[in-house]
Amino acid sequence: MATTIAVLSQKGGTGKTTTVRTLTDVLRRVGLDVLAVDLDPQGNLSDYFDVPADADPTVADVLAGQAKAADAVHNDVLPANLGLAESELILSGKMGREMTLRRALRDVKRRYDVILIDCPPALGLLTVNAVVAADYALLSTEAQYFSLQGVEQALEVIELAKDNLHPDLEWLGVVMNIADMRTVHSREAYAQLKEAFGEKVFETVIRSSIAYAESAERARSILDYRPDLGTDYVSLADEVLARIGSDSARKKLQSLRA
Ligand SMILES: Nc1ncnc2c1ncn2[C@@H]1O[C@H](COP(=O)(O)OP(=O)(O)OP(=O)(O)O)[C@@H](O)[C@H]1O
Ligand SMILES: [Mg+2]
Repeated sequence: MATTIAVLSQKGGTGKTTTVRTLTDVLRRVGLDVLAVDLDPQGNLSDYFDVPADADPTVADVLAGQAKAADAVHNDVLPANLGLAESELILSGKMGREMTLRRALRDVKRRYDVILIDCPPALGLLTVNAVVAADYALLSTEAQYFSLQGVEQALEVIELAKDNLHPDLEWLGVVMNIADMRTVHSREAYAQLKEAFGEKVFETVIRSSIAYAESAERARSILDYRPDLGTDYVSLADEVLARIGSDSARKKLQSLRA
């Protein structure tokens, strides 16, 4: 059964999509079967994986009960497009609306080792569906003074989901993303996070580089486009694997690093 991780943040542009794409790439390279789920009507993750824009059905059809998850998987990506915004509206009026993705993914959970879910930049019904479908919630945050507040708000949603819908949900941790550790600002933001959340903060910090936007535009993994930067995500993947207790995959990752 797949270990499912939802990547979320309260704010937009914190590197969620890039994190899902690149962790997927790293984990696939150590031989894990990974399903990447795009749960954002912007469809950025689908574009980054170069899923054709007319791919059909999509996660919107799955949430609407009009397609099975297995039939909506294209090259191990469950894509999204703007139609997902409408699904969210329809979903909001239904019973069990927070459980819809969880139920839908049951059908594919057996085929994968890991499922990574990319959330939209809001803590609404889609993000709630993602965390309820997940075993772990991974927070992404930009290196800003305000990031603490955003992390606290996302944590509230995780707590609410735990209390009311999914007691087994675990907070995997928070990663500081798009950071320039040469600046005092970034270093202080990291120290602030550490002080507030201790070991929940990943040691790995994802360095800021324009190469990420370029790699997204070319629909290429940063691991190929700029392997020197990709090492950040290899380190993050190692920490993630340690936290989910996947020692055999960690060993393979070590040989990949070497
Ligand atoms: N480490 C990085 N350094 C610099 N730019 C980055 C980095 N990671 C991602 N980016 C760029 O920053 C922008 C936002 O990243 P991304 O799309 O991953 O964030 P997001 O949280 O998914 O955004 P949204 O909330 O809109 O879904 C994109 O243009 C992306 O290419
Ligand atoms: Mg995104």
